[in-house]
Amino acid sequence: MRVLITGGAGFIGSHVVRHFVNHYPGYIIYNLDKLTYAGNLENLKDIEHKPNYHFIKGDIVDRELLNALFDKHRFDAVIHLAAESHVDRSITNPLEFVYTNVIGTVNLLHAAKSLWIDNPQYKTPADRNLFYHVSTDEVYGSLGETGMFTEETPYDPHSPYSASKASSDHFVRAYHDTYGLPIVISNCSNNYGPNHFPEKLIPLCINNIKNNKPLPIYGKGENVRDWLYVEDHARAIDVIFHRAKTGSTYNIGGHNEWKNIDVVRLLCKIMDRKLGRPEGTSEKLITFVKDRPGHDLRYAIDSSKLQRELGWKPSVTFEEGLEKTVDWYLANEEWLRNVTSGAYQQYYELQYAGR
Ligand code: NAD
Ligand code: DAU
Repeated sequence: MRVLITGGAGFIGSHVVRHFVNHYPGYIIYNLDKLTYAGNLENLKDIEHKPNYHFIKGDIVDRELLNALFDKHRFDAVIHLAAESHVDRSITNPLEFVYTNVIGTVNLLHAAKSLWIDNPQYKTPADRNLFYHVSTDEVYGSLGETGMFTEETPYDPHSPYSASKASSDHFVRAYHDTYGLPIVISNCSNNYGPNHFPEKLIPLCINNIKNNKPLPIYGKGENVRDWLYVEDHARAIDVIFHRAKTGSTYNIGGHNEWKNIDVVRLLCKIMDRKLGRPEGTSEKLITFVKDRPGHDLRYAIDSSKLQRELGWKPSVTFEEGLEKTVDWYLANEEWLRNVTSGAYQQYYELQYAGR
């Protein structure tokens, strides 16, 4: 099976690519990524020479490129993660989110349809075709003090990011309902773990604690997020990819709600211990700052459908996952240094040029 994974140089995508390359040596994995600021090929150093892995630098907004790639490689399945993913950036530059998240997704859907549905010469492989769209719980909007998002919760996005992801989800379903494209969608809660770009809350705080810089907490830090270790997300994608019914949707989450302020306090405690600083040192860095406009109060995912139907469950607790994450950042200072200095953006030219 030839599987196209988009956005595989990013945070979650790199874990998904590694998981599929290592667990399915019989599949050929093509990683298509534009290498925006969020794409980092150093994330995949350990598997880049495996014979079943291929990297393609390219933009999903480029329709001609996608059509040519589908024509040349005859992908049998797509796992689509490429996106602009940071809510704060969507507030300052919403159009970029429309181009990649909406138009890029429609381009991909169209290229898959042209090969799988419209081309009479294309033979469906022994298994099946599948367009797997990786989405977010943010499409459901914001919860009050109680309740959880289920697969039936109506969409109610608030930020340009979540509006663009909601739009892309609608297009994916439209291609299923209108053209019969075999699709599946999953909506996951907040991920954390190794290789997370240090603009997002957890890696930003790890980096700032290390460097004795302020820890900016939006508003009062009362907003709640439901955190999942990134490798558990990759395992969920594997299970859904192989076993979900075409046309279905699954929520993915760890049943692990935390107020932002409590996450940051826990991180401070772990970091003080690991850095040999007296307990309470890092908490002094906490700084309350102006709130994010339209800041969703609370996310909580009900993933019981996935657990019941496909037997997936998270494998690490939040405390274990945070310890592992902090250990990874402390052991990979060079990764963090290259990201913060911008040196990671030269990796493609240095390693791939002329290949
Ligand atoms: P990320 O920002 O870390 O990575 C995105 C990747 O997509 C980068 O490698 C980037 O170079 C690539 N990309 C961006 N625009 C592109 C384009 N036009 N063409 C090709 N490649 C492009 O994102 P992430 O946090 O790993 O999220 C991956 C996916 O998972 C996204 O679709 C996101 O909406 C979804 N998601 C993320 C989370 C989370 O907590 N991070 C939770 C649920 C769902
Ligand atoms: O819920 C899934 C979503 O989780 C994904 O779809 C997004 O791609 C991903 O970025 C993430 O979105 P959030 O906005 O929840 O993540 P972020 O790390 O930016 O923020 C987490 C919470 O912390 C949020 O309530 C805002 C707050 N925050 C964030 C930053 C960067 C702060 O208080 N201070 C900060 O500096």
